[in-house]
Amino acid sequence: METAANNHAVFEGERANNYDEFVQQWIPNYDYFMTILPKLLENTVEKTMLAVGCGTGNEILALKKADEAWSITGVDPSPEMIHVAQEKLALHENIEFFTGKVAQLKNHNQFGAATLILVLHFIQYPNEKLGLLTAIRKRLQPGAPFIIMGIFGNKEQLRGNLEVLRSLLPNYLTHREIDERLERIKQLYRTSEEELSKLLVRAGFKPPTRFFQASIYSAWITQKPT
Ligand SMILES: C[S@@+](CC[C@H](N)C(=O)[O-])C[C@H]1O[C@@H](n2cnc3c(N)ncnc32)[C@H](O)[C@@H]1O
Repeated sequence: METAANNHAVFEGERANNYDEFVQQWIPNYDYFMTILPKLLENTVEKTMLAVGCGTGNEILALKKADEAWSITGVDPSPEMIHVAQEKLALHENIEFFTGKVAQLKNHNQFGAATLILVLHFIQYPNEKLGLLTAIRKRLQPGAPFIIMGIFGNKEQLRGNLEVLRSLLPNYLTHREIDERLERIKQLYRTSEEELSKLLVRAGFKPPTRFFQASIYSAWITQKPT
């Protein structure tokens, strides 16, 4: 179901052009996360990856820098985010982009791995989250790893970690900017840890393992069963 909230989830205009600066300011350890991502996928049997909600392509660049053997399909409904990604990745081969959603993907590839980074908290309803996770699982080979990063935790955890995030932000951001942004984050559709595990299992994945956390952001790894 398309809703205003879903449309808001699609990054356009200034949001696309300023995205890379935004993540540096607002997501502590974003760069560190991107450096460990390829290591976690190093033993993937077939080096083909589906990067869902690839945005400006940072996860794709991280993988290609670690190993040019990766063939990657980036999917995102925002043409503007994909445009930035295409420019950023112009010197790398074996990358294709699809503007749209995973369920609409035209090729019939079964991928060796997939990522969903900083996307799920823009999806409002649990059945839509389940639909997205199921669409990703259907595109994976048996045993393929799946890495998911976003805003996870219950209300209490989010409240505590928003204060942690506040203290980790760069000093040059104004109090007003910080208050407004933290307020917007509270309106996003976080998933509790229990819910995430249930959604992944219902979508056909193994129960996930958390391997990273920086304030409100955490990352989990799971696999499609063999
Ligand atoms: C915060 S950005 C994350 C970009 C990138 N993955 C990263 O780690 O920097 C979220 C992206 O998800 C995309 N998006 C929103 N709804 C989506 C959906 N249903 N399926 C795939 N991508 C979606 C947005 O257009 C946006 O580019």
